Amino acid sequence: MAFLQIFYSRLRAEEKLLFKAAEQRTIPFEAVDVREIRWPEFPISQGDVVMTRVVSQVQNLSTAQLLESRGIRTVNPSRVISLCGDKIATAAALDAAQIPQPRYKVAFSPEEALGAAEDLGYPVVFKPAVGSWGRLLAKLNDSEAVEALVEHKSHMGAQHSVFFIQEYVEKEGWDLRAAIIGGKPVAAIQRWSDHWITNTARGGRAEGYEIDGKLNDLLLKVQECIGGDFLAVDLFLTSNGWLVNEVNPSPEFRNCICTTGVDIPDLMVQHAWSQAGTEA
Ligand SMILES: Nc1ncnc2c1ncn2[C@@H]1O[C@H](COP(=O)(O)OP(=O)(O)O)[C@@H](O)[C@H]1O
Ligand SMILES: [Mg+2]
Repeated sequence: MAFLQIFYSRLRAEEKLLFKAAEQRTIPFEAVDVREIRWPEFPISQGDVVMTRVVSQVQNLSTAQLLESRGIRTVNPSRVISLCGDKIATAAALDAAQIPQPRYKVAFSPEEALGAAEDLGYPVVFKPAVGSWGRLLAKLNDSEAVEALVEHKSHMGAQHSVFFIQEYVEKEGWDLRAAIIGGKPVAAIQRWSDHWITNTARGGRAEGYEIDGKLNDLLLKVQECIGGDFLAVDLFLTSNGWLVNEVNPSPEFRNCICTTGVDIPDLMVQHAWSQAGTEA
């Protein structure tokens, strides 16, 4: 008999909701705390499907890669976790698919980073290629601030030796978070904040937002470009239309349920279970 295995570490509201949804659907599932397993001893049967819900994307990626080496289907697949886990790789993939995004530049030395920021025009946003919850983002208004930041970054280790710089997008107090499950855009929320960083983990307030035809088409393009089973897409609405800011592979979704009326965890476990019996 096949199982849905839900890999987690810290039990957030999301994981509890996923367990509950699997129970209500009477899907045979196991909750696996990755802190208690060891590879290669971890037993898993062909036909099982694994949902990667560990807080650390580094751990999600490793577990997915190991499981796939045994032919196990993981949702999301490691390729998607790795692509979305790197904002530069995501920007490159979006470009290749001609999906609109904020103008950006990448530089490999403090001097070129400063030149790139000047080219883009202030304010600019510096982001670590790997990160979430709005951590280590910097909005900079002039060259002196850029000089200070790049000097600090040059002492922060290899991960900060590539400078990812975006234009600052005037977004009138909110950005959009849209959920795609099993290839279908299912729900979206506006995230409002007085701060320019609108993540709900940083105090952004969520409000339901209806997905119209144009937005739906763009989200389908993102799905085609990135692939995968669950995507959370962050977007900005500008006078020239939507810009895709980033794509997350294992998002927190608790604020998206009562604001939209869409039962995200139920849709997620149903989709995951539909993949049982398939191979990586
Ligand atoms: N270029 C930008 N212009 C305006 N706001 C931005 C820009 N980049 C990020 N933000 C704000 O910061 C938030 C977090 O940025 P994001 O790139 O999604 O990083 P994280 O992975 O930390 O969520 C976004 O949701 C948005 O509110
Ligand atoms: Mg984000």
